[in-house]
Amino acid sequence: MMNATISDTEYTQFQEFIYEQVGITFTGDKKILIASRLGKRLRELGIDTYQEYLDYVRGEAGQEELTNLLDLISTNKTDFFREPGHFDFLRDKILPTLADIQQVRIWSSASSSGEEPYTIAMTLYDGVANPKQWDFRVLASDISTRVLAKAAAGIYEDERVASLDPDIVRRHFLKGKGDRSNFYKVKPTTAEIVRFRRINLMDDAFPIKTPLDVVFCRNVMIYFDRETQSRLVHKFYRYLKPGGYLFIGHSESLQWVDHPFDYVQPTVYRKQ
Ligand SMILES: C[S@@+](CC[C@H](N)C(=O)[O-])C[C@H]1O[C@@H](n2cnc3c(N)ncnc32)[C@H](O)[C@@H]1O
Repeated sequence: MMNATISDTEYTQFQEFIYEQVGITFTGDKKILIASRLGKRLRELGIDTYQEYLDYVRGEAGQEELTNLLDLISTNKTDFFREPGHFDFLRDKILPTLADIQQVRIWSSASSSGEEPYTIAMTLYDGVANPKQWDFRVLASDISTRVLAKAAAGIYEDERVASLDPDIVRRHFLKGKGDRSNFYKVKPTTAEIVRFRRINLMDDAFPIKTPLDVVFCRNVMIYFDRETQSRLVHKFYRYLKPGGYLFIGHSESLQWVDHPFDYVQPTVYRKQ
């Protein structure tokens, strides 16, 4: 039977490890919560002590286990058309400015299970008169391979889709048949412009060659401290076109963060 208590030293080591690896900070008052969630994971793995688990995630198997560890301390919560103002802005303010080149590059940088990048794809297709003539590409990335696998499959329970406009559902989803009748799958024609890959936002550089029109980084920076946020948004700046946009989550702000962007409106920033 494992020892259910986590020592202060072990807890500090966890805090430091998570911060180094994924930029997430959590404070001392989370100790009991984290210990109980971690305890469950230790039992699943048949590991007896927190120290042993720490050695395990730091070791070779660590990157995969990191996903499980992250799932214990952060959330993957998301939705189709979450914070819809960004998609209106994309359709009404950004797409018209790209009509002459008919090329769009967007990065959904904490894409979770795919609702955000697929919403971007739907907005692109529905936002122009002749989508077949446009060259759309959406990069969707997350640190968690578990959510990325779900995103790439593009299959969602009907309740996830229930609140969407029926026209959007008809245009962009296929309804399952038989024992899959409770599920919807994003149509291949919509999904084909979206590419998925694992990217840790803490990496020094990102595998992006073509300058971007928009970076979505929503509802993840809230876990990072100001210094980490600042480093991250400076990196985003490098990968954007001049005049490109950064969208952040509704409860996030760069007001107290050192950053190079012009402020446009709440949660919308622009490269000069
Ligand atoms: C709450 S979800 C946000 C989903 C979507 N952007 C939205 O706003 O609905 C946060 C996501 O950030 C991911 N994440 C956390 N730390 C990360 C990191 N260092 N690099 C990349 N993704 C990370 C998590 O795995 C999770 O899927």
